[in-house]
This record gives sequence, C-alpha cells and structure tokens, in this order.
Amino acid sequence: MTTPSLTAPEAYATLDDCRAAARALPLERKVLLLTGRAMWHLHALPELGLRPVTFSDGPVGVRGLGEVDGETSILFPTPSAVAATWDVALAFEVGQAFAREARAHGVDVVLAPQVNLQRTPVGGRHFECFSEDPFLTSAIGVPVVRGIQDQGVAACMKHYIANDSETERTTYVSHVGMQALREVYLAPFEEAVNAGVWSLMAAYNGADDGVEAGPMTAHRHLLVDVLKDELGFDGVVVSDWEATRTTEASAAGGLDLVMPGPGGPWGERLLAAVAEGRVDERELDDKVARILLLAHRVGALGSEPATITAAEDLRALVRRAAAASMVVLRREGRAPWERPAPSTIALIGPNAVRPHVLGGGSSTVHPAHVVTPAEGLVARWPAARIVLERGGDPRALAPRLHIPGRGTAILVQRDDAGAEVARTAVADWRGWADALDPDAREADLIVRVRLHEPGVHRLSVGTVGAHRIVIDGVEASASDVPVGVECVLDSSVNNPAGVEVEVAVTEPREVEILATLAVIDAGGYGRFLRAEPRHALPGPTADEEIEAAVAAARDAELAVVVVGTNEESESEGWDRTTLALPGRQDELVERVLDVAPDAVVLVNAGAPVLLPWLARARTVLWAWFPGQEAGHAIADVLAGAVEPSGRLPWTLPASEADVPVPHAVPDAGSLRYDEGVHVGYRGWERSGASPAAAFGHGLGWTDWRYDAVSSVAVGADGDLTLDVTVTNTGDRDGREVIQVYVEAPEGAHERPARWLGGFVAVHARPGETVEASVTIARRRLEVWDAEASSWVLPQGGYRLRVGRSVRDLRLDTAVRLEAPEPVRRDG
Ligand code: BGC
Repeated sequence: MTTPSLTAPEAYATLDDCRAAARALPLERKVLLLTGRAMWHLHALPELGLRPVTFSDGPVGVRGLGEVDGETSILFPTPSAVAATWDVALAFEVGQAFAREARAHGVDVVLAPQVNLQRTPVGGRHFECFSEDPFLTSAIGVPVVRGIQDQGVAACMKHYIANDSETERTTYVSHVGMQALREVYLAPFEEAVNAGVWSLMAAYNGADDGVEAGPMTAHRHLLVDVLKDELGFDGVVVSDWEATRTTEASAAGGLDLVMPGPGGPWGERLLAAVAEGRVDERELDDKVARILLLAHRVGALGSEPATITAAEDLRALVRRAAAASMVVLRREGRAPWERPAPSTIALIGPNAVRPHVLGGGSSTVHPAHVVTPAEGLVARWPAARIVLERGGDPRALAPRLHIPGRGTAILVQRDDAGAEVARTAVADWRGWADALDPDAREADLIVRVRLHEPGVHRLSVGTVGAHRIVIDGVEASASDVPVGVECVLDSSVNNPAGVEVEVAVTEPREVEILATLAVIDAGGYGRFLRAEPRHALPGPTADEEIEAAVAAARDAELAVVVVGTNEESESEGWDRTTLALPGRQDELVERVLDVAPDAVVLVNAGAPVLLPWLARARTVLWAWFPGQEAGHAIADVLAGAVEPSGRLPWTLPASEADVPVPHAVPDAGSLRYDEGVHVGYRGWERSGASPAAAFGHGLGWTDWRYDAVSSVAVGADGDLTLDVTVTNTGDRDGREVIQVYVEAPEGAHERPARWLGGFVAVHARPGETVEASVTIARRRLEVWDAEASSWVLPQGGYRLRVGRSVRDLRLDTAVRLEAPEPVRRDG
C-alpha cells in the first residue's frame, strides 16, 4: 500500500507539508509511530515509504545498534577535550566524523552532543559536557551539530534541560530561575535551534522555572511555549530512554516521541486518551509531522540518505584532536620536547599502564584498539628502553576475571518453579547474558578456576539485584531485593559492587565461584543476568609498587607519570563524592618528583581533580579522556610534534572548600540552583577564591604579549567587534586563544562579575605579531529581564577585558552602549 503523491521528496520538505501527510494517516498508525519499535528503532510506515529511523549514542563516538557481533566504533576524545581546543573548525570536523560513523553503523540520529552545563565539578557526566560556560558550550556544541547534519545525519542535542547532575537523576526537580535558565542553561539549545538542529532529548529530571513545575517529558512551558513556539524548533523532542511516565501530560506537554519501545505510556493508552477526548488528535498530527520531517531529513522518507563526503581518516582526526586538546597547566624549565631524545623512559602510574580513555555510562563505545601510552612511546622512540611501573592500583575493586585463561563457566537457567530450562557452557563469560530462555527467572553461574600462584588471591563477584554468591564454599553476599530498570539508569549495573573473599593458595587448586542470580527485567533495556567475576592475583603491595616506580624514575632520562580517574570514579549514573585522585596517586607523584623533578605529569581525567603537588611539578599536562589514539597523542605532545594548545573549559579547584557548587545532592527531591547566573568561573569571580587553574588557562608552549586593542566597533546588529594584536614572544610556533571577558555597567539586573563574551584563536611564529578580530554577539551582552519576560540590553559603559584566562587579563578597553546609537569610549 503506497501513496505515490506522498513519497515525493517535496511532500515532506517543511513541517507544514508533513502535517498534511500526518493528518491523512489513520489514528492507529500515528500512535504506532510515536513510540519506538525497539531500543534504537522507530516503526516503518510502508504506506508512506518510511523505513525505520534508527538512533544511537553519542557523544564520544557512535556506538551502533548492537546488531553486529564484535561491533567496534571510533572512540573520540571526551567532549570536554573537544571544547578545550576552543577550535570551532575542529568541532565541525568532529561532527562530520560522527556522521561518517553513524552511516557506517546504519544510524540516522546520533544522541549527541550533550550541552548540559558543568554546574558542579562532581557531576557524574561532567566529562560528557563541553564546559561550565554557556557560550563556550554553544560555540563548540553548535558546530558539532552542524557537522553531523551537514552530512545528512541528525544530531539529537541533550538533555533538555537543567540535567546537570546524576544523584536521583530520574526524579529530581531543578529549581532554576528564568534568568539563569535563559542566560545559562537554555542558551546552547537556543543557538542550536537557530542553527537548525533536527532533534533534541527531553531529560529525566523535572524543572521548576517559576512558571511551571513538572517532568521535562511533559513540560509544556519549556517544550511548547519556549522551544517550539518562541524559538521556532521544528524538530523532534525525543524522551530520554525510559523517562516518560505519563500519557496525557506528556502528549499535551510537547513530547513527540517515546523511547525506547515497544511498550511505555503511550500506545494503547494514548489511543484511548484521544478516543475519549483527553488528548487532541491534532497534537498527534504535529508529533507525527515532526518525525516525518526528521525522517525526510535523514533520507528515510521520500529520499535516500546523503552521501558522506567528509572526514575519511578518523584515526588521524582523533589523534590530532587529542594532542591539540591537552592543556599545559605548568611549564617550567626545559620541556620534554626541548630535551635530547631519551634512551630510557620510566612510564609510571596506574593510567600509564591502563589509560582511561572514556567515561562510564551510555556514552560508551567499543573501539577496535586503544593505543596505550607505552605503545605510543615505543612508536615515537623505537630505540628507547621503556620501563613501565604502575605505582599501586587505585581501584577498590579487583580486575575482571578472564575465565578462558583459568577455567570454565556454565550457566544453568531455571523457571519459576525451579526447573532447569537451559544449561550452557560459556567459554568466555563477559559478565552479561541477555539471550535468555523466555521462561528463565533465575540462574546459577558456576565458574571453576585454577589458582596456581601461591599467596592470597582476592575473588569477588559484582552483581545487582537478588543474588547469592558463594566463593570457595563461603557465602560472600546475598540479597533478596530485586531490581528493575533503575539499575541501568543509575549505572550500578555497569560497575556493580561486590564483596571480596580472600583465598589463600599454597598448592595449586581449583576454586568454585557460584553466583545464583535473579533475571533482571529492565523494561526497554530488556531481560538479562549480570555478574562480573573478579580476581586479583597475589602480588606486590602498593608500597612495593610505589618503591619500584620511584626507582625507575630515578634511573631514567625521562620520567612520565600518568595519573587519573578510572571507571570507579567518573560515570553517568552517579556523582563523585570527592575531587581527590583515587588511591595513593598523589603520594606517587610526590615521591617521583622527589627523585625526578623534571618528570612530566599527565592527568588522565575528564573532570577536575585536586592536584596538591601542582606547584612543585615542572611540567603538568591535562590529557583528558583522549580516546582510542591516547598513546600516540601523548607521544606526539611529549616529542614536540604537536603543540598541546588546549585551554581549560572549566575551573580547576585547589580546594573542595572553594567550589561554588560543591555537591549535587537533591534535598527532598529538589535541586535549587541558588547560584543563579554565577555558574562555574562566574562563581569563583564572585567569591574571589583562588583556583589551581582558572577557566581559560593553558600555557601552550610559547609565550605571548598582548599588545593592544586597536579598535572596538558596534555593528548595526548590536554585535561588538574588537581588533586585538598579540605577539609570540617565545621561540616556538604557537597557537593562542584570545579571550574577551565582559563586565556590565552597574544596573538593576543581577550580572556575573565578568563573563566570556567572545574568543578567537591565532597562530604565530616566534617574534611574529598578529591581529585578530573578536566578535561579541549582542545576545552575549543582553540580560534576561524576568519581569518583562524579554531580553534587554542595559545601557551604559561596558568594560572589555582581554586575556589568556579569566584570571590572566592583559588588556582593558570599554564601550558605551546607549540608545539609539551605541558609541565607543576608549578605556
Ligand atoms: C542517557 C542518554 C542516552 C540514553 C540512551 C540515557 O540513560 O541519559 O544520554 O542517550 O540513555 O542510551
């Protein structure tokens, strides 16, 4: 059954065209389309020529649909790293590369970028966000959107809105005043809508914006009045996965698509609501129309997908972006790239042995290979001897047990009555089983391993839900409390806790691990079993490992220390409770610096950690979660082949006590954004506290003189343009990010002490002077007047401060904005 007139591309060119097509569909077909068919797929409507539209996560790569065994994806640097480049063109390239990956994986819509704000450094998804500044978030996030869509793949910007922390993440209500909402949290979405983003995701949390309080999947004021009617968004509002809990409220509240499916609160219940007049069918027409337009845009309806033309060598792009994004926090004395090629390199630290290349949660992708720091250094200095020392394991949990090397595992599934329904040998148990017998309710995972190393072995099983774990005859853990979808949403399923048993081995022997597990029914995420056997071998103590690391540093020509966070610290699903580096890593760094003061320290973390030794280390680089080419990027930087030209997109605290928003724990379900517009560095500017490194900081590897602001002009549209000259006073080529901070005149409105108005990056050779223009868009100067419910541009003198970071301001000028004609006044 086809309707030829509707399959012509022009039939879907605009939302109005799609509305006409939508109205012509029977009600049942409309409702069918409004809930996913599966985890990542929508339904097809063959009568329109609509094939199933497909979605996949974002935002550190495109994971794919989980339909191909051993599916791998390119793993990009963490989004904060992309923001740290302050490189708009690179962000666009990354977007294009996402599109290439999407097409390679059969994906139409990438669930990225994530433009929530880094409101607090403890936020679990901090690494997935770009910045604590709304403008930098937009400046990088919008080109990512453009890059993706430029290739005919849809971006799905997330999570709308005020979804800035993880504790109680599916239920908390963010209370955000309208001024902060408009100027900070909504700003990146507004810019993306102006740029034509095709879809965005309604968050799990609720919001109280002073007009309406309710879940973001049913927030009529923010979804319909603001997003669709006022800003003119013509795309699809997709629910976050399993976020929708209402039928009528969400249907009337501006949500367009419930994901995942099948099931959920629409379907039959929505049909009934329309039939009984509780939901207007025209609301459904609008939703269907938006989905048809999206489908048309990605080539799933009336046209073919566009040909991907950009970004062929993705590994090269990842490597280049990772190296460029690194931030030089300290540079004193001779940098490693200025020293002769080393003959011995001591490569030290837990993250040197096992780099952490991405954060936890739904952003996870599976790269075919991760280049370790050792591999990177070997490739760069093939003649050098590399001595690798961990210096202590900072993780609380033992490593995953690799069964094939040690023994066997079988899985016995049982039904409600306890009768066996399946028995399988699982040669390589990877911690999960989801292809279960339909009648299975419980299972025994029986693992037999041979322990032959004399000493004390640590064995445990990490699991969630009802279980009983017996290790070597000892009951280690038991619970009869079942879990459902919440174990996915709070990520406990990814890194489950477990109780350890110590097994002393004198003679080689076989040990049995028995895990009795209840089948978990996680709604749209399916039915599965989860048990991760873990095993730590007898081995050196942390003291012994630290001693060995110090000795290696003492003997080497170059010591490189890589410290950082790991899968126990940074993840979706929970917030951090400390900003300290896990384990004894601070002690490790201090001890290495005692014997090797020229050691290079790399911090492999997505979000801020305290670096108590920062002032005494001579070379310190923030290396982010660099993605799959980690080792090559590190080696490129250490060898001087690429300038680490990153600038911090957030503030690095020196002490937890100074952090403006130190935690993210809701109080009786409410998160109060009492700091208003003073988010991130703006809070530090207000308090005056000294961070370890300020927003915008990054030394690169040359020095700069800020010469002058040669002109300031106000355009007809109200945008300001400054011409700034700077000189590279060092002896290396370099890239500088010229940042302009705005200070408003005294007035009736609450305003940050200063805020980022614009930036531009320049390149210069040693001794070269360059001039560059920085534009500050009028909107960056305006303030949201909550009483008038509109943007206003306060009149008066604005101070414009130009510099290398918010705390390193080198030039000062001013401009007077007056009605009707703004006039410049030199400062
Ligand atoms: C996350 C989203 C993600 C979705 C699908 C949710 O739990 O909040 O960011 O896109 O899962 O994996």
